[in-house]
Amino acid sequence: MSYNTLIVETHGAVGLIRMNRPEALNALSFELTSELTEALKALDADDAIGCIVLTGSEKAFAAGADIKEMATKNFSDVYLEDFITATWEQLTRTRKPVIAAVNGYALGGGCEFAMMCDMMFVGEKAKFAQPEIKLGVTPGAGGTQRLTRFIGKAKAMDMNLTGRMIDADEAVACGLASRKFPVETLVEETLKVAAEIAAYSRPTVLAVKEAVNRSYETTLAEGVRFERRLFHGMFGTEDQKEGMAAFIEKRPANFKNR
Ligand code: CAA
Repeated sequence: MSYNTLIVETHGAVGLIRMNRPEALNALSFELTSELTEALKALDADDAIGCIVLTGSEKAFAAGADIKEMATKNFSDVYLEDFITATWEQLTRTRKPVIAAVNGYALGGGCEFAMMCDMMFVGEKAKFAQPEIKLGVTPGAGGTQRLTRFIGKAKAMDMNLTGRMIDADEAVACGLASRKFPVETLVEETLKVAAEIAAYSRPTVLAVKEAVNRSYETTLAEGVRFERRLFHGMFGTEDQKEGMAAFIEKRPANFKNR
């Protein structure tokens, strides 16, 4: 399928989605977010794909919601169209892991999109901000909520109340992103990590993602109980037998996703 605002490729068992509205620094228009929803659904449903990478350009991952598109909307418009909820949240429903590879600006909704992914890698020139305060609005896709869980209250308040940008080093230091690469090799390095994940047992990968995400939504005791049940359940898979046999026989595991 071809898209107007995305370039979608497959690299072995990895799906690569590149947001592609260079004229607007990948501002998250209705068309882009709708197409992203479709692309994510298609890759999630594709048995040949085990992991997904979301990226933008070297200048911008995404510069936020499309300000020109939303500037004249009133309350009824955004409420009735269910703005954001309707087309922005497929990333949070995708079962396969999604890694954000962030080069350049990830501002407002761009930062929020990156935080909806399961891991975030940054290029050396990445810049993050929640600049909504400068536009007279609050963030609307997790900037006050996910960001606070990622980096803590002090820094989240600082970013949300001032709109200041943080760079790649600060993003890694405060736990927003996990790895930093040179700008030119970010996507290539991210694809390598995604390929490594895609080669693991698919049921295990999905279960690990589900368990880590559960930690945000439950108590520690319930979360550990959930993890324990998943762990017990893994012993019903062929891949558990294969993974452990491969270790004992000193050979690489050949997972069948069963
Ligand atoms: N929406 C629409 N168009 C945008 C845009 C956005 N968020 N960000 C950039 N663009 C457009 C610019 O209007 C410009 O278009 P024209 O050439 O037609 O004028 C083009 O992209 C290039 O941008 P600049 O000329 O501004 O480029 P720059 O290098 O001078 O500055 C920038 C880059 C600092 C990212 C600046 O563009 C900027 O501040 N953008 C807005 C960032 C922002 O406020 N994002 C938050 C949006 S609100 C939100 O996301 C709400 C939410 O939580 C859901």
